[in-house]
Amino acid sequence: MKKVLTLIFAALLLTACSQKKEKFLVLYYSQSNTTKALAEEIQSQLQCDIDEIECTNPYTGDFNSVLTRWQEESQSGKKPELNPLSKNINDYDVIFLGYPVWGGTYALPIASLLEKTDFAGKKLVPFCTFGSGGLNTSCAELKKNAKNAQILNGYGIRQARISNAKEEVSKFLIKAGFKQGEAEVLPEFSAQKEVTDAEKEIFHQACDGYQFPLGNPITVGSRATKEGTEYLFTVEVQDGKTAQIFVIKKDNSKAEFTEVVR
Ligand SMILES: Cc1cc2nc3c(=O)[nH]c(=O)nc-3n(C[C@H](O)[C@H](O)[C@H](O)COP(=O)(O)O)c2cc1C
Repeated sequence: MKKVLTLIFAALLLTACSQKKEKFLVLYYSQSNTTKALAEEIQSQLQCDIDEIECTNPYTGDFNSVLTRWQEESQSGKKPELNPLSKNINDYDVIFLGYPVWGGTYALPIASLLEKTDFAGKKLVPFCTFGSGGLNTSCAELKKNAKNAQILNGYGIRQARISNAKEEVSKFLIKAGFKQGEAEVLPEFSAQKEVTDAEKEIFHQACDGYQFPLGNPITVGSRATKEGTEYLFTVEVQDGKTAQIFVIKKDNSKAEFTEVVR
């Protein structure tokens, strides 16, 4: 009888341990508040703790001043010093790490953080904001530089589309299993084929207003969603290189590009 009770107790303990709720922290750097807005949206949907990464000497001024300082620092290998965090990383299991994309990777203060912080055994969920793209390339850098952490799938949004964050973050958190709800299952994109005139028009509607040229569409695949159609354009950029541009065309609204994958 004693043996049976011990076994039952052990089984109950095991179940309790395996159901231990993971503790989440949203940790972010934001230079001009776009990533801050995204971080606050994630925090609000998860109802978890949040902390901001701050530089001792903040990056101030317009885009060009920040760009100049960033270029000087990255060329000289100098990284910005950070103020101590308010939260203790060790108290959390899953860290949602947010940043703006700078030069195709995470902003320099994240490099400072990675140099000073041990993320061993933590799950990192990257999230970022960008002008055109950089989720894939910044995540690849994170995998190299936060070696002992487990880097999970991330989420990124263009600064110009930040008003869509609420809806997209919800879908992302549900799909990743961090929030309850029914995950939307989307079909695969159809095979790439030559772009028709109508598709070219959609591409230009989505991309022409952007401050930098995004290339010429060569081929495209598409898929239907509940709200409209999504396109995956392959574009020719410089020197015969290609990039992929994701475009969303919701019924009755203008087409927008959501991300450039270089
Ligand atoms: C120094 C610097 C470099 C940037 N480099 C890129 C880039 O390589 N790719 C991109 O899509 N956006 C780039 N951007 C745009 C930012 O990623 C974008 O504006 C972001 O949403 C800003 O976030 P924040 O308001 O949280 O600072 C850059 C911005 C700055 C200031």
